Amino acid sequence: VSLKPYNTFGLPAMAQTLVRITSDADVRRVLDHPELGRTPKFVLGGGSNIVLTRDVAQVVLKVEVQGRRLVEARDDAWIVEAGAGETWPDFVAWTIEQGLPGLENLALIPGTVGAAPVQNIGAYGVELKDRCHAVDVVDLVTGRSVTLDASLCRFGYRDSIFKQGLAGKSLITRVRFRLPKPWQPVLGYLDLERKIAETGIAAPTAAQVHDWVCSIRRAKLPDPLVIGNAGSFFKNPVVTEDQCRDIIGRDPEIVHYPMPDGSFKLAAGWLIDACGWKGKSIGRAGVYEKQALVLVNRGGAIGAEVVTLARAIQESVYGRFGIRLEPEPVVV
Ligand code: EPU
Repeated sequence: VSLKPYNTFGLPAMAQTLVRITSDADVRRVLDHPELGRTPKFVLGGGSNIVLTRDVAQVVLKVEVQGRRLVEARDDAWIVEAGAGETWPDFVAWTIEQGLPGLENLALIPGTVGAAPVQNIGAYGVELKDRCHAVDVVDLVTGRSVTLDASLCRFGYRDSIFKQGLAGKSLITRVRFRLPKPWQPVLGYLDLERKIAETGIAAPTAAQVHDWVCSIRRAKLPDPLVIGNAGSFFKNPVVTEDQCRDIIGRDPEIVHYPMPDGSFKLAAGWLIDACGWKGKSIGRAGVYEKQALVLVNRGGAIGAEVVTLARAIQESVYGRFGIRLEPEPVVV
């Protein structure tokens, strides 16, 4: 099976076996299978956060669990559930249409509902962990269905237990969200403040915030259906106050944000841009013209070209700023 249609970078790779999973029982059927049961598993969601550099020897479990529903309307929150195979941006749009606000800042992020907790997706001041209630998984060894409370998921910046201790060991089937009442917009991010200034709307509805986030993203992020990519390719690095002061001393323009714990987050896109990479290519892999943090497939690229470009960027950022950039997507 070709995995090219199943990764948003559009990288070529083959899998021996691909099984579509639509329920917990489907997972158990694979585990009970005489051959497939013992073969290592590779869980695939929307393929929007992976860089495939080789064929996949494991059994690919393509998660296609469907369904979305309001589970409960509590006094202080709505509890909403979606199957892991639902498309994330469609699910977010549906919650807004249903009058269930709270996910609007996470509009239009490519991928599936099940992939969202894995890397704790985040944008415009909201992270998945701020709205996650619980995650249902199936253990890939025992076949048992388990529910993990959000507090057990060890969410961090683009990180969770699913990327660490549980990587390859469990398959997410459903995610429940807790959308607090009364709804309060999160508008602190610079791009959203600009929208308020532009439109003169100081108290937007959730649907307006949803529209704003969609238009901000469309303006600077490539649509994976048109240009292959996996969103931000590197995490924004976090440095100590001393390191930050040192870098500001040399590069006063550097974009940095204070963190609650006293450290500083630097804009990786700015660092890459400052090294002159915006719009550049190595082979058929390139740096997006409008946002240097996004690497793109210029057509027909293979995973190795993307990795070569990423390494070259890491080296030049390290050479100039002494900062090691860490890739965000999972390199296979
Ligand atoms: N910048 C540049 N040059 C560039 C790109 C960015 O100077 O080529 C500067 C911008 O001017 C801005 C700063 O860097 O001052 C930050 O840029 P932006 O606001 O676009 O956000 P980001 O740090 O590049 C992060 C997330 C995105 C998320 C946005 C909005 C990470 C790794 N990325 O990007 O998430 O959508 O904030 O909240 O944290 C993703 O993870 O795949 C992703 C797209």
